[in-house]
Amino acid sequence: MASTHSATYNDTVVRQFAIAAVLWGVVGMAVGVLIASQLAWPELNFGIPWLSYGRLRPLHTNAVIFAFGGCALFATSYHVVQRTCQTRLFAGPLAAFTFWGWQLVILLAAISLPLGYTSGKEYAELEWPIDILITLVWVAYAVVFFGTIGMRKVRHIYVANWFYGAFIIAVALLHIVNSAEIPVSLTKSYSVYAGVQDAMVQWWYGHNAVGFFLTAGFLGMMYYYIPKQAGMPVYSYRLSIVHFWALIFTYMWAGPHHLHYTALPDWTQSVGMVFSLILLAPSWGGMINGIMTLSGAWYKLRDDAILKFLIVALSFYGMSTFEGPMMSIKTVNSLSHYTDWTVGHVHSGALGWVGLISMGSLYYLIPRMFGRTTMYSVQAISLHFWAATIGIVLYIAAMWIAGVMQGLMWRAVNPDGTLVYSFVESVKATYPFYVIRVAGGLLYLGGMILMLWNTVMTALAGRAVDAPISAQAQPAHA
Ligand code: HEM
Ligand code: HEM
Repeated sequence: MASTHSATYNDTVVRQFAIAAVLWGVVGMAVGVLIASQLAWPELNFGIPWLSYGRLRPLHTNAVIFAFGGCALFATSYHVVQRTCQTRLFAGPLAAFTFWGWQLVILLAAISLPLGYTSGKEYAELEWPIDILITLVWVAYAVVFFGTIGMRKVRHIYVANWFYGAFIIAVALLHIVNSAEIPVSLTKSYSVYAGVQDAMVQWWYGHNAVGFFLTAGFLGMMYYYIPKQAGMPVYSYRLSIVHFWALIFTYMWAGPHHLHYTALPDWTQSVGMVFSLILLAPSWGGMINGIMTLSGAWYKLRDDAILKFLIVALSFYGMSTFEGPMMSIKTVNSLSHYTDWTVGHVHSGALGWVGLISMGSLYYLIPRMFGRTTMYSVQAISLHFWAATIGIVLYIAAMWIAGVMQGLMWRAVNPDGTLVYSFVESVKATYPFYVIRVAGGLLYLGGMILMLWNTVMTALAGRAVDAPISAQAQPAHA
């Protein structure tokens, strides 16, 4: 038994997290479609408190970010770290604990959020007992990941691991600092910070949740799965190192752009704006490095749907990291803040970047976890790609138009200084765009359901096998 173990990778936990990611993707996006529908047709909360928008919205964000995104990150990081270090995962039982522990966190979130238990901090809504469980799982994750790196059989630590490693360390730091709270009962706590300090800590967390949870780990995916799927070395390995340090350093300072025109001292807002503008450079450096990895192999894009997922993901990454710095400029933010433009920006990053890069990576990974080289249906991957892409375009275009329109309507004044439009007029004008978003969301969700079907069929047609440890797994890099 021991000898078989040392000759194979621990793919059990990779398989479990990969399947969980697909499953939670369907659930989280279905809740997204429901709340998008509620914004168009408010009766859809049926008068039931736990179906109300205010409770389901955090359920959606937690499910897509931490359940779908989180499981995809666990699956791919465990897959990548073993292949690039050519060793089996360190502390197998602890890796199993991260899987079951994380599923318990998700389950507790799915119960407590609809019941209305919340600490009231965006993306950190879960109450203190769940926060403690998250901490335990995360420490175990760090031990497994860095333990594996410590046992590596190759001298070099491949760049994807740097991004995954930074994601793991930064999320630990963010979670512990932002969730510092005083419990008053099992289900209620209050933040240890107050007033504007509380807001600053929250958005230092919030923005770095974007930078590290929604970006750094997914860049780890990019640096492994794009070279693998394209059969090409990373365009510039040197650039990947510059990309890493520049991105990690800059993200930490950009949080105040979420608090423009608030009680936060003005100079702090300006620091946030300047660092957000600087952030364009490392973000685009990374995007260019990923896209250019295909140079000499562009023709592969024509009929490789997995590559389409990966490369279009990078295009959306480029788009949202151009849009973000623009929105951080104070005068632009005075128009965009509080409008659906922000929601459009969020989803061009979330659906376009996080969603597509995860789907592409999982389509590469899942068949290999079942002893196959391709998914059960390659055609279904292509169909998924087009449904998702059209869905994203409908979603974000609708939100851009709605957002700019709302911003302009709210600031329009008559010569005598009174407002041209009442608030409800802007709500009415937004209605068609909310309906278009529902259509986009349904397409995106439909693609995800197709992926679930394809995953189940692949599992049934294949056999769960742990791959032998081989020297072939290291992606070539110059
Ligand atoms: C079928 C796909 C999806 C639909 C229909 C959808 C819909 C929605 C809706 C209606 C909101 C609330 C907007 C508001 O309050 O005005 C929202 C918020 C949000 N969603 Fe999604 N969503 C989807 C997928 C995703 C995915 C895959 C992610 C992340 C990976 C994501 C991340 C978020 C975030 C972070 C917010 C909060 C935005 C903010 O506070 O500005 N969504 N979504
Ligand atoms: C260079 C990179 C980026 C910069 C400088 C940036 C900047 C911004 C700005 C200025 C806002 C609006 C804040 C407000 O008015 O309240 C915002 C909101 C947001 N962005 Fe970005 N963004 C970047 C990339 C991304 C990416 C790639 C994603 C997703 C994967 C993302 C997710 C979000 C989310 C979730 C929010 C909404 C937060 C909330 O209010 O709940 N951003 N971003």
